[in-house]
Amino acid sequence: MAILVTGGTGYIGSHTVVELHAINQEVVIVDNLCNSKIEVLDRIYQISGKKPKFYKVSVQDEEKMREVFEKENITSVIHFAGLKSVSESVAKPQLYIDNNIGSTKVLIKLMNEYGVKNLVFSSSATVYGLAEHVPLRETDPVGGCTNPYGQTKLDIEYLLIDYNKQHKDTNIAILRYFNPIGAHKSGLIGEDPEGIPNNLMPYITQVAVGKREYLNVYGDDYDTPDGTGVRDYIHVVDLALGHLAALNKLNENPGLVIYNLGTGKGTSVLELVHAFEEANNIEVKYVIGPRRPGDIATSYADATKAYEEMNWKATHTIVDACRDSWNWQKNNPNGFDK
Ligand code: NAD
Ligand code: UFG
Repeated sequence: MAILVTGGTGYIGSHTVVELHAINQEVVIVDNLCNSKIEVLDRIYQISGKKPKFYKVSVQDEEKMREVFEKENITSVIHFAGLKSVSESVAKPQLYIDNNIGSTKVLIKLMNEYGVKNLVFSSSATVYGLAEHVPLRETDPVGGCTNPYGQTKLDIEYLLIDYNKQHKDTNIAILRYFNPIGAHKSGLIGEDPEGIPNNLMPYITQVAVGKREYLNVYGDDYDTPDGTGVRDYIHVVDLALGHLAALNKLNENPGLVIYNLGTGKGTSVLELVHAFEEANNIEVKYVIGPRRPGDIATSYADATKAYEEMNWKATHTIVDACRDSWNWQKNNPNGFDK
């Protein structure tokens, strides 16, 4: 009896596999390694003493996925596999539609064929689009996504809602992540972006380690306390534990449920930079630049539903996340490439 983790060698997936191992849960990973490295498996082994079964397969490949479902006794699925770069999705929208929506269609077809009822899906706060107020609640309007990546997340949410309506015995948890940062405290796994990081924390750590000269702060004229963008940064281990809570919830046969996974607290770009400097006693050079097109001023979660219904809440602080991100980066200046 195993949990199938698609995208399990990726950033959030690998941390979730470690937490699944910690509760003695058998894991099967499917990942085509388009945005992760095989070395992750050794690192998971070093942390947990267990090596998950691994298939280098695209979830879009129905035949190969059928072989996995045929061979393994899968009880539930956590579906992380997907492409996530906002800028790449603007340049190659069809790639994002095919990969993200296409792989989810294959997955639910096979889950139906093999009688696998429980699914946890990685959605994103991006589905709230140009949010009109904060904190964001699960009942707030969705849509108005500013890029094709975000649109694929919303389209998949609708696809899963339809699927659940047609298959009333299925249980699906849609988890809307806010901004994951941090790394496992061992420093053995962490975020390893290809090329120039799009996201704030990996950019900060690469400046700190000397790979980039300075951080570009994208605008200081937003309607926020210090003028820089405000986000809800959540430690990746808290996020991983949110998936375990969701799996437990699905065992209660709730049907389809949607949860924000965030801390409920907003932090500005400059607050995060200064927290990182203080936590690690290291300077992060930055310059204030123009706004990044498509960015919103403020986004943070109302995370009470996840607490009330799954007994889950984030426990790590921003300082914990800054320390753990730096521990990962300084021990692995080139990520998983030795
Ligand atoms: P990641 O890129 O590190 O992990 C995704 C993994 O999926 C990678 O290992 C990649 O190789 C794999 N993959 C992609 N397409 C695949 C396919 N067709 N078949 C098999 N494997 C495939 O990203 P992450 O940060 O760990 O994100 C995991 C999920 O969470 C993604 O769906 C992402 O969209 C979503 N999400 C991430 C964030 C974030 O800021 N990191 C925020 C909200 C939602
Ligand atoms: N920022 C900078 N400089 C950088 C990178 C980011 O100032 O080099 C700022 C941004 O303007 C924003 C904040 O840091 O104010 C966070 O930016 P990220 O790119 O780290 O995160 P976003 O909130 O913009 O985007 C993230 C995910 C998207 C997802 C979105 C909503 O990367 O995939 O959250 O869930 F769609």
